[in-house]
Amino acid sequence: MSLPAGSTIGIIGGGQLGRMLAMAAARLGYRTVVLEPQPDCPAAQVANRQITAAYDDTAALAELAAVSAVVTYEFENVPVAAASALAVTVPVYPPARALEVAQDRVAEKKFLNGIGVPTADFCPVDNDDELTAALKKFGGSGILKTRRMGYDGKGQRVFRNMETGGFAGTCEAMGNVPLILESLVAFEREISVVAARGIDGLLATYDPAENVHREGILHSSTLPAGITSETAVSAQAAAAKILAALDYVGVIGIEFFVLADGSLLANEIAPRVHNSGHWTEAACIVSQFEQHIRAVAGLPLGNPGRHFDCVMENLIGDDILCVPALLAEPDLMLHLYGKAEARPGRKMGHFTRMSRHRLI
Ligand SMILES: Nc1ncnc2c1ncn2[C@@H]1O[C@H](COP(=O)(O)OP(=O)(O)O)[C@@H](O)[C@H]1O
Ligand SMILES: [Mg+2]
Repeated sequence: MSLPAGSTIGIIGGGQLGRMLAMAAARLGYRTVVLEPQPDCPAAQVANRQITAAYDDTAALAELAAVSAVVTYEFENVPVAAASALAVTVPVYPPARALEVAQDRVAEKKFLNGIGVPTADFCPVDNDDELTAALKKFGGSGILKTRRMGYDGKGQRVFRNMETGGFAGTCEAMGNVPLILESLVAFEREISVVAARGIDGLLATYDPAENVHREGILHSSTLPAGITSETAVSAQAAAAKILAALDYVGVIGIEFFVLADGSLLANEIAPRVHNSGHWTEAACIVSQFEQHIRAVAGLPLGNPGRHFDCVMENLIGDDILCVPALLAEPDLMLHLYGKAEARPGRKMGHFTRMSRHRLI
């Protein structure tokens, strides 16, 4: 059963991803209500209504459930308890299980390995002794990450060719929270696949993007990625496995490391629309945002085919000063997020530079 036009979609989280979801929903005739504690958030500027409250506020969640025909979210740290409580009265997509898996890097890697999708080797680490033992196991190199709440490279520390031992105080400096040590992957490049699964189980998978990060934040996504068609197919096949295993509904973003022989290690999954999929709004008829709304509304998915080669770049902090120059370019699509203050490291917008040559 698909949602009739005029129905209301609830969105938990009011950032730029929620904003672009609300815009896509409006184009399909839906209304949106955003749950977000920050007043005048990017999503609320284009949604029909904001419920200004914490993501775990019981009364606010009940109100969201009461006014929404379906609830979705734009970030992966929605409290699982909140998603599960909502799901008693209103459909919540993607399913809470996807949140559980994506919120904890250890659970995520166990899940991926369990369905035959390889990842970097890893060790859960809870204290400095465990860190010493884990680094020894990985030959003195590794990347230590908080298991939960990390994003844009935050909560990470790289160790290279370190003598093992002498790490007293590291875990405290990381906040005394559960950690994971991953082996340091000597990847040739990073790619991601954005894919959608409908309520009927059908899939729509976009071309893999090649991603460059700067200071832990996505800088650019380039299409096509510099990979063979075999590597592209295997990334898309891994995405299909992940979506089926989670009985997923909606759009997912999956990051991979590409090794020198073209094989892949999955890095992380994001149960939401993804920054590395923003190019789809410019190069595809159906963007990742519309695809997500179609999926959660029970509509047929659209064609994920790509019509142009392109490069998406994020506008971080003061990059926004380049906007007048960017607008002077003929084949460029700009998207700004309505954030008042351009703080360093803050995603203010993005643009997609298109090739003139039409592919299909
Ligand atoms: N095991 C690893 N080996 C090598 N580089 C890594 C590893 N894990 C992460 N990185 C680098 O750090 C970036 C951010 O790490 P990621 O796990 O994706 O965290 P975040 O949640 O902050 O995006 C990755 O895109 C990659 O460039
Ligand atoms: Mg990442």
